[in-house]
Amino acid sequence: MSAVAALPRLYDDLAAWWPLLSNPDDYAAEAEFYWQCIIEASRIPVRTMLELGSGGGNNASHLKANCELTLVDLSPAMLRVSRSLNPECEHVHGDMREVRLGRRFDAVFVHDAVAYMLSEADLAKAMETAWVHLKPGGVALFCPDHVTETFSTTGT
Ligand SMILES: C[S@@+](CC[C@H](N)C(=O)[O-])C[C@H]1O[C@@H](n2cnc3c(N)ncnc32)[C@H](O)[C@@H]1O
Repeated sequence: MSAVAALPRLYDDLAAWWPLLSNPDDYAAEAEFYWQCIIEASRIPVRTMLELGSGGGNNASHLKANCELTLVDLSPAMLRVSRSLNPECEHVHGDMREVRLGRRFDAVFVHDAVAYMLSEADLAKAMETAWVHLKPGGVALFCPDHVTETFSTTGT
């Protein structure tokens, strides 16, 4: 089975429904928090940013006010959703474990999509992708929804 065939239906044939479930306005505060984290940690001015697993582009819809964004996602259908929200951003079809754009960015951002790295080997590949696309002094920010310290199976 190919990686694309393994995508959940919400990222595939149901992707057009994504904006009904996930409103870009709801991402304003967290996008600002991520931006502040990035510029505080960066040793270079942040003018360009690569997002890996950018999905429908909700964080990007806010981050693009601060810098030039390149958005990579495995799902062609989610890229279509993001293109309609963020027509001014570059969109690239690719897998965060192996995509190579042949250029470097001031920052690399991997939001909740990092949760799709289901093994240490895949996570290492995604981190390598971030590394090879980063300029010296730049920042890679990974923001998983869950970490060991806060994960709960009871929902509390
Ligand atoms: C919840 S969405 C991301 C939403 C995004 N953080 C935002 O701000 O709108 C998760 C995305 O991860 C993408 N994804 C999953 N595995 C991937 C991979 N190996 N490489 C690139 N994108 C991947 C899915 O196609 C999906 O679009």
